[in-house]
Amino acid sequence: MAKFRFVHLSDIHVQPELGAFEALQRALGAVLSLRPRPAFITTGGDAIMDAMFVSRRRAVLQFRLLQNAFEHLPLPVYHAIGNHDIYGWSEQPPRSEPGYGKEMFKQFTGKDTTYFSFDQAHWHFIVLDNIHLLEPPHWRAEVDEAQLEWLRRDLMKTGKARPVVLIAHAPLFSIFPQFHWGTTQAPSEQIMTRNAKELRELFKDYNVKAVLQGHTHIVEECTYTDTKYVSCGAVSGEWWRGPRLGVHPEGFVVFDIDGDRLQWQYMSYGWKSPALRT
Ligand SMILES: [Fe+2]
Repeated sequence: MAKFRFVHLSDIHVQPELGAFEALQRALGAVLSLRPRPAFITTGGDAIMDAMFVSRRRAVLQFRLLQNAFEHLPLPVYHAIGNHDIYGWSEQPPRSEPGYGKEMFKQFTGKDTTYFSFDQAHWHFIVLDNIHLLEPPHWRAEVDEAQLEWLRRDLMKTGKARPVVLIAHAPLFSIFPQFHWGTTQAPSEQIMTRNAKELRELFKDYNVKAVLQGHTHIVEECTYTDTKYVSCGAVSGEWWRGPRLGVHPEGFVVFDIDGDRLQWQYMSYGWKSPALRT
């Protein structure tokens, strides 16, 4: 039976400040020193601090740092997109600007689409793009119609027996909004995936073992009808200012696959934010 390991790095938010690039290199060093070695890396979106609200020069600078950190790694990397990876949506440069919207992320990650799937042994991995762009500067967390149709076909091809992992930036299912903002408020469409119910309807009869989520920077697992919805923390913790909410350290998730079983553990890479150093 298949036995392999992979690592998921969410919300890296690399930037020149607060030692973020050094921290990312340290995190990747920790990934490479794992035994057994991971077969590949996935990332969960918000690879850079932000491209939405900054100049083109600043956005490119951050993407170059990302590229520098990842380019010589001896294992495949599959990037999911996050809201902060979208260039120019809030600052509204001319739409003819090179890299506008999702183009810059695609250029720097070497993909011609922001959603795709791949296989490892008999497992199937699906990277989704749930950053749905509306009229600038608006967006919401949603998987659009064209992608739903692609997902439907991709799952049909995969079949109901093979184990599947879904990866997306904004959560489909999380306890975080209830415990962070209140138990009776509707969560924001910029936090939770607006059409998660429809998405689950689409995949619930397949063998979806896990949904890897980011965006909140917290670590949690919610299990529903045998699917684990794992919020995978953040390499950047509280955006490079220490552990998220003081309790979720800067780290990444190690997934171990054995046959049809999946287990995970959150791993801190021992970063101490310069903002907290005395
Ligand atoms: Fe983030």
